[in-house]
Amino acid sequence: MIRPQPPSLAPADDLTEAAEIDLNAALTPLIAQRNLTPIVRPSTAADVTALIDTSFPDGGDSLEQLVEQVTTVTNRYPRRNTHPGFFGWIAPSGLPSDPLAHAMVSALNANVIGYLPSPVGTTIEKTVIRWLADLVDFPQQSEGVFLSGGSIANMSGITSALAKRFGPEFRTKGLCDNSQVSRPVIICSQAAHFSIRRAAVMLGIGTDNIIAIDTDAEFRMRVDKLAEAITQHDNIVCVVASAGTTNTGAIDPLNEIADICATQNIWLHVDAAYGGGGMMSDVLKPRYLGIDKADSVVMDLHKWFFQSLDGSLLLYRNAEWARNLFFDSADYLHASEDNSPEQYMFFHIAPELSRRFRALPFYIALRCYGLPKLGRNALHNVQCAEYLAELIRQQDDLELIVAPQLSILCFRFRPVDIDDAAVDQINTMIRDQIQLEGEYLMSATQINGRPVLRVCIINHATRADHIEGLLDSVLRIGRSLVLSGDAE
Ligand SMILES: Cc1ncc(COP(=O)(O)O)c(C=O)c1O
Repeated sequence: MIRPQPPSLAPADDLTEAAEIDLNAALTPLIAQRNLTPIVRPSTAADVTALIDTSFPDGGDSLEQLVEQVTTVTNRYPRRNTHPGFFGWIAPSGLPSDPLAHAMVSALNANVIGYLPSPVGTTIEKTVIRWLADLVDFPQQSEGVFLSGGSIANMSGITSALAKRFGPEFRTKGLCDNSQVSRPVIICSQAAHFSIRRAAVMLGIGTDNIIAIDTDAEFRMRVDKLAEAITQHDNIVCVVASAGTTNTGAIDPLNEIADICATQNIWLHVDAAYGGGGMMSDVLKPRYLGIDKADSVVMDLHKWFFQSLDGSLLLYRNAEWARNLFFDSADYLHASEDNSPEQYMFFHIAPELSRRFRALPFYIALRCYGLPKLGRNALHNVQCAEYLAELIRQQDDLELIVAPQLSILCFRFRPVDIDDAAVDQINTMIRDQIQLEGEYLMSATQINGRPVLRVCIINHATRADHIEGLLDSVLRIGRSLVLSGDAE
C-alpha cells in the first residue's frame, strides 16, 4: 500500500508561530486613552477612513504596526464612553479589571454552548447567573443566560411569553395558527424602550399590536390604564414593565403591575436593561419592589453594572416555557434530554448556539470588587444626579424638567424673556458646543414634545467636580449665547 503524501504548509504560511507581542505594552496606551480628552472629536467617515489601511489585506503588517494604527486612529477620532465626563445615552464605562478579563476570554476562546463544550465556562456562567438571580430575589429553580444585549434579551424573554400564551403547540404551529382567534398583543408603557417594538417585528406580532399605556407625571406606567387595557384584550402575550426607562430612568410600579398580571395569569417581563445595576445598592433596591414577581427580567451588565461590552442577562423565573420552544438538537450535537448538569445547554433556553465566555469578565469583576462595593458606586451615581438636580434648581436660568429617579435627569437652559423656539435652539447649541469643547458630553431627548438636555451618570469614576464642571460649561455657553444674541 502506498502511503499518500501528507499535506504540508510552507513555514512562511504557518499561523501557529507564537506572536512575539508584549500584551502589556500593546494594551497600556489603549487603557490610558480611556480618560483623555476630547471625549469626542468631530469627523467625517472620510477622515477616519484616511487613517485606516483599507487596501485589500495581503498580510505582512506586524502586530506592532497594527497596534500603533488602531491606537492612533482611536485617539485621533475618539468617542470615549469610558470618560467620567461622558453623560450621553446609556453607554458602558467598563471596569479596570475588564481589559485583562477580556484578554483571558480571547486566550481561552471557550465556546460556551453548554457543559460538554465548555465545562468551566458553563459552571462559571451558571454561578454568576445564580448570584444575579439572588440579587433579584428570584427562586432557586430560576435559570438564565447571557446574551449580547438588552434588545436580543428582551426579544427572547417575549418569545418565552409566547410559549406560555399559546402552549407548547406554538413551537410547531407558530403565530399564524393562533392569531386567527384574535390579534396577539404586547402591553408596555409609552416610555418602553424601542427594542420592544423591534421584538414585535421580529416575532411576527407587528408594531400595530403593541398597546402603549399612558404614563403618569413621573413617566411611569399608569396602573389604572393597564388594568383597563387588560379588560379590552383577550390575547395578551405579555406585559412589559420598565425598571429604569431610557429617557428618564423611571421605574414602573412593578409591585402593582405584578399583582395585576398574576391575577390575570399574564406573563410579566421586566426590562431592567439600564436600571438593573441599581439593585446592587441596598439603598436603591427598595425602589424595585415587586421585580421578584416577574416571569422574566433583563439586566445589561454593560450598562449600570459598569462592565465592558457585552453581556445582558435574561432571567427566567421558570425556564420550562423557554425550554419548550428552544429545546432542539441536531445529529452532530448529541444533545440529550437528560436534565443533569453535565448535559446542560444554554441553547435549550435561548436562541444563541455558539457563545463566547461572556460570564468570565463578570465573574472576575464581581469576585474582585464584590456586589456591595459596586452598589456603592451605583448609589454614588444617583447622588451625583441628585446633586446636579439641586444645583440646577438654584439657578434662575435653568429648569429641571425631569428630576432623577435613578441616575438620569433632564433639564433646560431657560433664560427669562426668550421664546420657546429660541430656547430650543440655545439648548441644541449648548449641547453641540459642550461636545466641541471635549471635556463633557450630554445627549438630548424630547420630553412632552420639547427638546431637553439629558444627563445619564453610569460611570463609576464620575465625581462631583465633573458634575460642577458640566454645569459651569452649560451656564457659561448659554449665557454667552444670550448676550451675543446668537440664538435669536
Ligand atoms: C431600557 C432599555 N432596554 C433595552 C435596551 C437595549 O439594550 P442593548 O443596547 O443592550 O441592546 C436599552 C438600551 O439603552 C434600554 O435603555
